[in-house]
Amino acid sequence: MKIVIANDHAAPELKFEIKEYIESLGHEVINIGTDSKESCHYPEYGEKAARMVAAGEVDFGVLICGTGVGISLAANKVKGIRCGVCSDTATARLIRQHNNANMIAFGARIVGSELAKDIVKSFLEAEFEGGGRHQTRIDMISAIENKN
Ligand code: RB5
Repeated sequence: MKIVIANDHAAPELKFEIKEYIESLGHEVINIGTDSKESCHYPEYGEKAARMVAAGEVDFGVLICGTGVGISLAANKVKGIRCGVCSDTATARLIRQHNNANMIAFGARIVGSELAKDIVKSFLEAEFEGGGRHQTRIDMISAIENKN
């Protein structure tokens, strides 16, 4: 699969570690930065990655900031994006199985690198359970988006 990865200044080191790990799982990773610890604005990176996912240029997106929250909030403003913040592997699996999330976020100041790898692996290996009540609820989320 093709994965975009983006982060702010809180996470370049963890980003490189996660990028390498995702590649070791056999996926292609597109890194759109930042690669620096110099202060930057996470909405720019969250939006850019989200637009690539929404346009179908990549299959999934991985976002990292200090908490994972700010960058996920920005990504979720892009139509068609369902990004969940995860600090555990069960949530990472369930946001794929139930919410058909197309992006995942986590915090470099919250989770260690080994847990972050397990979180990403759980997300990438899980599949949407499809149809039924889960699809109904996703359609309801899209309907909210379409009211804006
Ligand atoms: C940057 O200092 C920090 O606010 C950011 O990485 C993130 O945690 C925001 O949600």
